[in-house]
Amino acid sequence: MSAALDEWLTRLRQAWEHGTLVKLTLGAHRGADSSLRNVFARPVDLRAGARLAFVFRHATKDITKNLPLAEAIELVARALSHDFGSAHLFTTEAEWELQLPGSGEPRLVKRPARHGAPATTAHDRAKARLIDPAAPWLRGLGVTNPGGRVREGMAAKFRQIDKFVEILQHSLANLSPRPDRALTLVDMGCGKGYLTFAAFDWLRRAGWQPLEVRGVEARGDLVELCNRVATSEDFGGLRFEPGTIASTGLERVDVLVALHACDTATDDAIAKGIQAGASLILVAPCCHKELRPQLRPPPPLSGALKHGILRERQAEFVTDALRAALLEWAGYEAKVFEFIATEHTAKNLMIAAAKRGEPGDREALAVKVCALAGFYGIRSQRLAQQLGFELAGRSGAASEG
Ligand SMILES: C[S@@+](CC[C@H](N)C(=O)[O-])C[C@H]1O[C@@H](n2cnc3c(N)ncnc32)[C@H](O)[C@@H]1O
Repeated sequence: MSAALDEWLTRLRQAWEHGTLVKLTLGAHRGADSSLRNVFARPVDLRAGARLAFVFRHATKDITKNLPLAEAIELVARALSHDFGSAHLFTTEAEWELQLPGSGEPRLVKRPARHGAPATTAHDRAKARLIDPAAPWLRGLGVTNPGGRVREGMAAKFRQIDKFVEILQHSLANLSPRPDRALTLVDMGCGKGYLTFAAFDWLRRAGWQPLEVRGVEARGDLVELCNRVATSEDFGGLRFEPGTIASTGLERVDVLVALHACDTATDDAIAKGIQAGASLILVAPCCHKELRPQLRPPPPLSGALKHGILRERQAEFVTDALRAALLEWAGYEAKVFEFIATEHTAKNLMIAAAKRGEPGDREALAVKVCALAGFYGIRSQRLAQQLGFELAGRSGAASEG
């Protein structure tokens, strides 16, 4: 491979990684397929991740192909080694023309850029985003590259972040800002802080001021990283602290978030939210281990549960149904729904609970909780314990409607 071609390919790779790539074209075709005229490619964000979208322009038809960067570079390198006499790379910073004469040395010519902004990556941009992929904190957390494009392998995470903010926006629609105090959001088991940052960023832009957003995370290294990014972005009002959900003190909280906190950590988070009087509780449970060994439903269900996978799914169902019922008992309106398509993550169930204006008929709600637990033979469940709710305390399992 000539030095000029090698450098052109390096410029292509760099433009892709920095998000400055606008498009590329291959011309002066001289390959075996006499119907092929030229080739165009531009970056696109697809569900599968970032790709280069190629159009092979033939005399009577166009053939399209979407390729990840490594395959795209291989294809272009092969094509330029034999079949094309010229190639243009357009970036926001410069234009690189590669001249490949049939005989003689290849030449690389640099010209000033004609394009000010990276090509729109249409497929995903068509949908209005609540989170701007160019937000610097996304780069700090490694979701996007320096050019503001979502990194390879992070597309699903970015969609999850955006979807979470959409749910937050929708859930907060009935909550009015209080001029006398800050809106407080606590994200329990916040991990790398993707959702915590997203919540802070969106709430701030939506005018929720003053604002206090706090991430709690067991892993100290993640807490350090998040605080570093928050400081570098000058995000006053956003902080991260090391600790477990169970040992975290919450005096007052408006919005309690816990996404994918393992097993009963979700119950601890819900209990903390209820006890702190949260107006909104958003949890996405995972690893439902606690109730599986306790499941003792009556026949014919008991027979079905000899199959491990059915037992596992039933345990998930009962756990989350009990959580929703306990939230109702505690004075919340609970909704359970899939918050992101199963193709992105299997951990996609969300419980969104909004505090009701009045507590409702607590005795009737308690009977419902006990009926559900009783049907499955559940005598002990973490959220019930944390709330001081006696699961075996009320009868009515069979008759409850
Ligand atoms: C699967 S990650 C989810 C992170 C984040 N909520 C998200 O959805 O992007 C779960 C995180 O919760 C933390 N975690 C699990 N149990 C915890 C507990 N009891 N207290 C604090 N953090 C916990 C883990 O260290 C991990 O970083």
